[in-house]
Amino acid sequence: MNYRHAFHAGNHADVLKHLVLARIFALLARKDAPLAYLDSHAGVGLYDLTGEQATRTGEWEQGIGRLWPLAEVPPPVADYLAFVRGLNPDGRLRFYPGSPELARRATRPQDRLHLNEKHPDDGRLLKANMADDDRVAVHLGEGWHVPRALMPTAEKRVVLLIDPPFEQADELSRCVDALKEALGRMRQTVGVIWYPIKAIRQLRRFHQALAGCGAPKLLQVELYVHPTDDPDRLNGSGLAIANPPWGLEDELRTVLPWLATQLAQSAGGWELNWLIEEQPAVETQPATVPKAGERSAAPASSRPGQPARTARGDKPAPASKASAGPDRVPKAGQRSGTPSAGSKRNGRANKPGASRGKPTRG
Ligand SMILES: C[S@@+](CC[C@H](N)C(=O)[O-])C[C@H]1O[C@@H](n2cnc3c(N)ncnc32)[C@H](O)[C@@H]1O
Repeated sequence: MNYRHAFHAGNHADVLKHLVLARIFALLARKDAPLAYLDSHAGVGLYDLTGEQATRTGEWEQGIGRLWPLAEVPPPVADYLAFVRGLNPDGRLRFYPGSPELARRATRPQDRLHLNEKHPDDGRLLKANMADDDRVAVHLGEGWHVPRALMPTAEKRVVLLIDPPFEQADELSRCVDALKEALGRMRQTVGVIWYPIKAIRQLRRFHQALAGCGAPKLLQVELYVHPTDDPDRLNGSGLAIANPPWGLEDELRTVLPWLATQLAQSAGGWELNWLIEEQPAVETQPATVPKAGERSAAPASSRPGQPARTARGDKPAPASKASAGPDRVPKAGQRSGTPSAGSKRNGRANKPGASRGKPTRG
């Protein structure tokens, strides 16, 4: 366990993760019912960007450092920035909220937070940083055990963040296993997996595994700041979101192009894609035996080859250049859609409703 998040706090990947997390909490807050937030790999919770570790890499300067001085930002970004500004009331950017502090600020008195961190030093710091909030429980155990150990929760609604350091080769598949475990215990879990994007082709199997994880619906959100073909560099990051709250997709369609432009380094781009689209409930009709010569037709939405519906099932999937039935799956070596500069999408299926950003230059 060599990874220390303090070196990376506030970078472009944190901005994407924390912005989306903040929106998830905001959208879920439309209902009063309490929710539980589970953070399997929590880090220390709060970061000092003037500290030795953050200063050594300076990664935050290309992340939160770019958004901080902007006077005008899209409303969802303004809400996320308000949490960061709340930590820096004198107007100078110094403190940055990790996922625990962000969740603490974005949740309500009726909500509960379970934060888990395995590294003993980071765990101690996390405890100290969260000490004043009696809604928070800090656990110092194994992150992969969090769904099994803590779910189902007393609260009927749960947000689970799975954000490991990706030091081990098997962590992508462990993320999928942890999500499956969570969904098996609470099917409506809003499950968020963060993942790094280096060479995009390395993620093909991960995306396929996610598509088969059994979530009722699952959204893939990616943001690139470099071409996605250099395996030795963090070129971007992604979030796989099981059961995203209604409205999140539309917000992200507005915010991602803006964010890709703001955070692009050598080349920026984004992608939003339903890896699992919600199946509309099939209406049950009283069984009638078709008369001779009469056809029995399945409802249009459940016919094979029809695009499935989006989010709530009451709106058709948005028309998209990338919309394709199974016959449009690109062959190996063939690009699908308009990739961001330098990014490779070889052999990946374009699902209906997929959107991809044009390349933007940094
Ligand atoms: C990417 S950081 C978490 C960042 C945090 N979620 C945030 O957004 O602010 C990953 C954390 O996982 C911790 N960690 C590593 N292996 C772990 C394990 N097996 N179980 C729990 N935590 C682990 C590391 O010490 C590190 O603090």
